[in-house]
Amino acid sequence: MRMSRICRMVFATCLGSFVLVIFYFQSLFNPGESPSFTPQRECSDLSGAATLHQARRDQVVDACRTYSASSRKRRVLTPGDLKHLVVDEDHELIYCYVPKVACTNWKRVMMVLTSRGKYTDPMKIPSNEAHIPSNLKTLNQYSISEINHRLKNYLKFLFVREPFERLVSAYRNKFTLKYNSSFHKRFGTRIIRRYRKNATQDALVNGDDVKFKEFIEYLVDPATQKDGPLNEHWQTVYQLCHPCHIHYDMVGKYETLEDDSNYLLELVGVGNFLRFPSYAKSTRTTDIMTAQFFSNISSQQQIQVYQLYKMDFHMFNYSIPSYLRLD
Ligand SMILES: *[C@@H]1O[C@H](CO)[C@@H](O)[C@H](O)[C@H]1NC(C)=O
Ligand SMILES: *[C@@H]1O[C@H](CO)[C@@H](O)[C@H](O)[C@H]1NC(C)=O
Ligand SMILES: *[C@@H]1O[C@H](CO)[C@@H](O)[C@H](O)[C@H]1NC(C)=O
Ligand SMILES: *[C@@H]1O[C@H](CO)[C@@H](O)[C@H](O)[C@H]1NC(C)=O
Repeated sequence: MRMSRICRMVFATCLGSFVLVIFYFQSLFNPGESPSFTPQRECSDLSGAATLHQARRDQVVDACRTYSASSRKRRVLTPGDLKHLVVDEDHELIYCYVPKVACTNWKRVMMVLTSRGKYTDPMKIPSNEAHIPSNLKTLNQYSISEINHRLKNYLKFLFVREPFERLVSAYRNKFTLKYNSSFHKRFGTRIIRRYRKNATQDALVNGDDVKFKEFIEYLVDPATQKDGPLNEHWQTVYQLCHPCHIHYDMVGKYETLEDDSNYLLELVGVGNFLRFPSYAKSTRTTDIMTAQFFSNISSQQQIQVYQLYKMDFHMFNYSIPSYLRLD
């Protein structure tokens, strides 16, 4: 923990010394007896990760600069903007959670980290408990000076995912499953009323058979923007985590979830006893699946929905999907 505290103070340069210290201890206490011990690789892996994460941070800064140069909008953050930033005071850590990007498992890990020993295994925490708001503290619950102190000194991170894969994942989870009707009632009925001609009475009342096409119509409709912020499951990372205002120390990716997560746990200094839960969900939304969903969307609406998520594509270095027809 001591080491990670030093890391936070001089994050840019400390990764090198972090690597060096680990290398030093290992070569001191583990003189190469173990066949799996390969100090050379340990070392280059970690510094490789540091280089990768620096490049990701640079990419965010570049995208923000491009955006601010082309936009007149200037705004200051208010505490209400910080509802997604989960705080761990014991490890001086802030996690901005993005729904549909392994956020249940990351909330479980944050519960282990903040529980002072009550929990040790993230997977022993039921998923619904991880989503009970009072189980984790968020940054908006602090005073302005406490917020500023934490933003300045804590290690801040988030996890992102290819924006359209995340979108299809949200659609499938909230509109095609029967187990929870709250999204059907809140959004489904409205979407069907607005975008389905000749809807049956059943569909109008239950809102439980929204088509992906209708969901996209809803998203790109200017009326939707006027209604207020999008629901967090399909809101952009840009709007949820404010990466142009808050300088995240680590941008993790769903595509490299385990590596990035465990790298972060190493940085925090808890890597020895806490690993990120590995999981292979068979129902996971893939890029092939995403392409299939988008094949039904008109080229004009593909352009509009791309515009909506463009910042997320740009900031987090996702290329324009090859299945889009943007001409
Ligand atoms: C961006 O993506 C390209 C292509 O996948 C890759 O070569 C490059 O290293 C990435 N850059 C960053 C900053 O991640
Ligand atoms: C359904 O989802 C809503 C919103 O996510 C949640 O508040 C509610 O508790 C859920 N209901 C059930 C039965 O899981
Ligand atoms: C809606 O119903 C009317 C009358 O039955 C019919 O003429 C029309 O073609 C239907 N529209 C659609 C989009 O199905
Ligand atoms: C695409 O549209 C067709 C016809 O409306 C429908 O049968 C099919 O299920 C849709 N596919 C997807 C992936 O939404």
